[in-house]
Amino acid sequence: MSIDYNETIPNNVNLADDRRLLRALERWQPAYLKWWEDMGPVESTDLSVYLRTAISVDKNGWANYGHVKMPEYRWGIFLAPPEEGRKVGFGVHKGEDAWQSVPGEYRSELRRLIVTQGDTEPASVEQQRQLGKTCPSLYDLRNLFQVNVEEGRHLWAMVYLLQAYFGRDGREEADMMLERHAGDVDKPRILQAFNEQTNDWLSFFMFTYFQDRDGKYQLASLAESGFDPLSRTCRFMLTEEAHHMFVGETGIARVVQRTCETMREHDTDDVRRFGVIDLPTVQKFMNFHYSICLDLFGQERSTNAANYFSMGLKGRFQESRIDDDHQLDGAVYKVPSFEDGRVVSVEVPAITASNERLRADYTKDSQRGVDRFNKIIREYGVEFELTLPHEVFNRSIGAFAGVEATPDGAIMESAEWEKRKGEWLPTDADHEFIQSLMIPVTEPGKMASWIAAPRRGIHGQPIDYDYVRFH
Ligand SMILES: [Fe+2]
Ligand SMILES: [Fe+2]
Repeated sequence: MSIDYNETIPNNVNLADDRRLLRALERWQPAYLKWWEDMGPVESTDLSVYLRTAISVDKNGWANYGHVKMPEYRWGIFLAPPEEGRKVGFGVHKGEDAWQSVPGEYRSELRRLIVTQGDTEPASVEQQRQLGKTCPSLYDLRNLFQVNVEEGRHLWAMVYLLQAYFGRDGREEADMMLERHAGDVDKPRILQAFNEQTNDWLSFFMFTYFQDRDGKYQLASLAESGFDPLSRTCRFMLTEEAHHMFVGETGIARVVQRTCETMREHDTDDVRRFGVIDLPTVQKFMNFHYSICLDLFGQERSTNAANYFSMGLKGRFQESRIDDDHQLDGAVYKVPSFEDGRVVSVEVPAITASNERLRADYTKDSQRGVDRFNKIIREYGVEFELTLPHEVFNRSIGAFAGVEATPDGAIMESAEWEKRKGEWLPTDADHEFIQSLMIPVTEPGKMASWIAAPRRGIHGQPIDYDYVRFH
C-alpha cells in the first residue's frame, strides 16, 4: 500500500476525502514544526542527513534513503494495511468485529491509553535534543536524527488518532502534546522516565536499548487492541521501533568492545585514563535505565490494566500466540510483593496482572542483549559480567516503591542506601567523566575514543560515508 506524498501531510488514510480532519491536522502541523524548531535537535536545521523515509507500509517501503534536511522530512500518517474480517482477540468482546470507531463506553480509557503513549514520543526528542553537538561519529549522528524524526512521526500517529476519533477533546489533547515538555517543572511529560535527562551518548544508547524497548512492548500490546485504527497504527510504528533498539544494542556493544580492547591492550581495569568507559560505569548506567523502565509498566496488580484487558483495548504481548481462553476466566498469575521485609511471590487473578506479565516479557527480551554484551566481554578474555539489577532495585512504582535494595536484591535501610547508592547508580563524578568524553567527531569514518566502529554502514554505504553534510 503506497503513501500519497502529493498531500501536504503524506498519508495512506485517504486524508484528502476527509476535509474536516485534514483541516484539523493542517492546523496542527505548523504548531508541530514550531515545536520541532524550538524543542527538537539543536543546531540541526541546515544539516543534510542520510535518512530513510517510508514510502509505503509494506516491507519494501523502507528502501527509500537519501540526504534530507530534517525540517523537510515528510512526517505523515501511515497505518499498517487492514486485516480483513479482523475480530477483537480478547476480553469480554472476544470474537466480535474489531471496532472501526471508538466504542462510546470506553472512550475515556482509550483516549488515556493513546495520550500516555503519544506523550512519550515528543518527550524522547526533547530529552535527546542536545546530543547532536557531541556525536561520536557521523554514523551515530545520522542514527540519532533517524530516531528523532521517527519519534516525531510517532507523535503524528497518535495525534491522528486523537483528531480523527475523539472530536474536540482529541484536538485539545493533541495541542497539549506540544505543551508538556520533558523535565519541565510546571508541565512535565506524563511518565517519569521521559523527564530524565539524556545528555550524553552512553545514556542515549541505554535509552534506545531500554526505553525504546519499553515502547516496543507497549506498542505490541496496543497492536492487539480491538480498536482497529490503534492496532494498525501501532503495527506500523513497531517497524520503526526495531531500528531504535538496534541503535541502542549496537551502541552499547561498541562501547563494551572498545573498553575490552583497551583493557587487553594495556592489561588493566583502570581504563578511564585511556579515554574509554570502564565496565563498572557501564553497569551503573544500565542499573539506572533498566530500573526506571521497569516503573513504566505500572503497578503489578492493577484494576486499570484489568479494565483495559477485559474491554479489549490493550492485550498481552503476542496475545494471539498465547494458548488460553484470552478472557482469563479464573486464571491466576504470580506477581512479586513485599511483605514483612521480604520479597515474596503471590498468586493473583491473572486479569489484574497484565502489567507484570508485560514487564516479565520485557525483562526476558532485555536479558537477551545483555547476554550478547557478555559474550563480547568473554571473547576478550575479560572477567566481568553485566547484569540486569533485581526488580526491587531503585523502584518508584509498584510493590517496591520506597523499598531500598542492592542490585542483587538485598534489602537495606534508607540511610544505608543513601550512603551507598553511588556504588550502583551513576554519581555526579561519573556523569562528569562521561561528559569529559563527549567531544564531537565529525570527520567521516572517524570514531570517538570510547566507542568501536560499527561493523557496517547504513543501507550498504561504507562506514566513512558522509551520513551528515554540514552546509
Ligand atoms: Fe516511538
Ligand atoms: Fe522509539
